[in-house]
Amino acid sequence: MTSLQTARSQAYLDDRAHVFHSWSAQAALDPLVVVGAEGSRFWDDTGTTYLDFASQLVNVNIGHQHPKLVAAIKEQADTLCTIAPFMANPARSEAARLIAELAPGDLDMVFFTNGGAEATENAIRMARGHTGRFKVLTTYRSYHGSTNAAISMTGDPRRWGSEPGAPGMVKFWGPYTYRSAFHAANDVEECERALAHLADVLMVEGAQHVAAIVLETVVGTNGILVPPDGYLEGVRALCDAHGIVMIADEVMAGFGRCGEWFAVDHWGVAPDLICFAKGVNSGYVPLGGVVISRRIADSFADRPYPGGLTYSGHPLACASAVASIGIFKEEGIIEHARHLGTDIIGPALADMAARHPAIGEVRGLGVFWAIELVKDRATREPLVPFNAAGAAAAPMVELANACKQRGLWPFTHFNRLHVVPPITTSDDEMREGLAIIGEALAVADAHATA
Ligand SMILES: Cc1ncc(COP(=O)(O)O)c(C=O)c1O
Repeated sequence: MTSLQTARSQAYLDDRAHVFHSWSAQAALDPLVVVGAEGSRFWDDTGTTYLDFASQLVNVNIGHQHPKLVAAIKEQADTLCTIAPFMANPARSEAARLIAELAPGDLDMVFFTNGGAEATENAIRMARGHTGRFKVLTTYRSYHGSTNAAISMTGDPRRWGSEPGAPGMVKFWGPYTYRSAFHAANDVEECERALAHLADVLMVEGAQHVAAIVLETVVGTNGILVPPDGYLEGVRALCDAHGIVMIADEVMAGFGRCGEWFAVDHWGVAPDLICFAKGVNSGYVPLGGVVISRRIADSFADRPYPGGLTYSGHPLACASAVASIGIFKEEGIIEHARHLGTDIIGPALADMAARHPAIGEVRGLGVFWAIELVKDRATREPLVPFNAAGAAAAPMVELANACKQRGLWPFTHFNRLHVVPPITTSDDEMREGLAIIGEALAVADAHATA
């Protein structure tokens, strides 16, 4: 036995014997056994500590084990652990009111779910019920969850294994200036052409048959694609012109990640429905939901809404959301997210881009950033191919390993490394993590033409 094997705990052995993991070839797995965490760090059962620059799955916005959040869950557990969704309950009522108060426009009611996929599933159910239409438009390069309709809405390769999936989903291209589907040279052209493309898709699909357009306000896993100014306003106008429900999927981008309560606030756009999860309570207890405009909620005033969940508005989850929103306000977490993005991450990544030939583009806002890596800056050939696996993905695996060896847990996807630590990360920790990424990027540079 090697020393590593000796150190492996019963937890590891039981995991390998009995836990079936998400998205994975089970035989290839070698999971870290995490036994503790605090703030922006977590540690495993061999005593190795990592700076969490992934916030797990970009959900631990408030950092690990925030004492006030833990205390709120304990207090709720002592009071009332569970109650059916058709009862009212103080934790649920307060969470709904606080979220409605934060939401833009006439978004005023909340349907609670256990996570993001159930939020997007229910958002399109509401849009269909409200409009009496069936088609749903979503973008390529998006992720909306892995249940049947949510994975069918998804515009990335994770959908392929679930096809043909749910009917009625139509894909279009959203804006992505660096790899424009419209041969645009800048953000202004990209915005105009992406909106013209969407108008064309509506024409040929029959806008009168479209219930909803669903967008990740800022596309997350598929690239931190920040929409150019004017794009979301343009989508809003198209929805208004055709009576289509605008759904913002803010499961990843919401609750401070973009330096705003809701990412749409950055552009002053009010969608009709907002899907949230992850950062609402940093995943301490599973929670998601849909914030609903009064108009859409009213269309279910006199006829039943055809959906529900045993754990909708679970008291432990709602109590943790109430506490988390309070902590955000008390500790100025939204302001800190803006500061980190503007004063530390943005300048540091711009500096790295000037020094590393493998960096094609850096982009983001708040604590939501991507470093897009290329083999060749002139051609923009990605460092690894789209959806690369096995040997083809080796340069990105080497980069991730170089980060881990230096004590940083990275978030990588395709040819990108995302900078997405907890929003509560201190300035010093942020600089420490960025310095590690800067060192590790030498691995990527070795695969790029200077
Ligand atoms: C934008 C977006 N929507 C939906 C989901 C699905 O959320 P969940 O995994 O909680 O079902 C995710 C998860 O990463 C996401 O990033």
